[in-house]
Amino acid sequence: MRTGVITGLGSALPEQVLTNKDLELSANTNDEWIVDRTGIRERRIGGMTSTLSVEAGRKALDQSGIDPAEIDLLVLATTTPDQMVPATASVVQHQLGLNCGAFDVNAACSGFTYGLVAAQGMVTIGVNNILVIGCDSLSRITDYTERNTAILFADGAGAAVLQVQEADTPAMLGWDLGSDGAAAGILYAEIGGKLVMEGREVFRRAVRVMVDSARKTMEMAGVTADEVALVVPHQANIRIIESAMNKLDLPMEKAALNLARVGNTSSASIPMALDEAVADGRVKPGDLVLLVGFGAGMTWASAMLRWDGA
Ligand code: UT7
Repeated sequence: MRTGVITGLGSALPEQVLTNKDLELSANTNDEWIVDRTGIRERRIGGMTSTLSVEAGRKALDQSGIDPAEIDLLVLATTTPDQMVPATASVVQHQLGLNCGAFDVNAACSGFTYGLVAAQGMVTIGVNNILVIGCDSLSRITDYTERNTAILFADGAGAAVLQVQEADTPAMLGWDLGSDGAAAGILYAEIGGKLVMEGREVFRRAVRVMVDSARKTMEMAGVTADEVALVVPHQANIRIIESAMNKLDLPMEKAALNLARVGNTSSASIPMALDEAVADGRVKPGDLVLLVGFGAGMTWASAMLRWDGA
């Protein structure tokens, strides 16, 4: 069968560091509270979605060693496009020198996993090589006087090259995509406006949908929790991750974590954490890797990957 295998990963962060101490100057908050209630110590801000996407995308292409001329499709997951029109994917495609179709996906923090599942489906209908990028520049829509959101959101990009392989078993063993638009009002930004969030309600639902989605994906994959080598959760709040891991009977040592240094980067969160875990040697060929995220919409998405596809 045709299956898509990740052959390269890349990440990008803007240079400007925004610490919890910095936030004490603009919002009624403090470092101790933020670390204790979210696990975040600092974050990066100041990027544009196209610029960060190009940097992460180029690194993923370099790591995979693929000739950019061989890329057949670009999927850019973002909830913060640079412009209303055109899709940021087209701008990124041009700047990367790709000659292929390109489109944006907006599923907020679930976006990269949505994009990866869609890309995997495209491989089965004949597309050979796909660049999937998750990128957000949330600092552009964050009100730094509003402590609820200012402490969490940040900018970043993560990218993956998905290459076709002929194999006996699929490299994506299970997946789940979901949405509940009835909860659209608990996390949103009007066009031209800033993010508004009912934090506690998002928290409560986040744990539930992460657990449900991960269970569905494990069931489709025919995999039990103890067989999973690494979980790459959406980096929203350490307490959400701890609670979901605990309910799934997965020890925290199996979680890929980077939120202390980068905060919640929405669509970039999962690919950046995956890139870092792979660079740290935490994933071996044949390992089962579970991606699981949730976000505004509400949306949620998970996928079970067999690393290297073998
Ligand atoms: O990508 C998806 C996006 N979003 C999320 O995943 C966010 C999910 N929600 C959260 O992460 C949390 O709800 C927050 C971090 C936003 C808030 O944490 P919380 O533990 O739910 O706080 P809370 O709103 O229940 O407030 C607890 C206390 C309150 O004080 P009292 O009433 O107990 O005296 C708040 O006034 O903490 C206070 N508080 C703060 N204090 C300092 C709330 N936010 C802050 C703050 N700094 N930033």
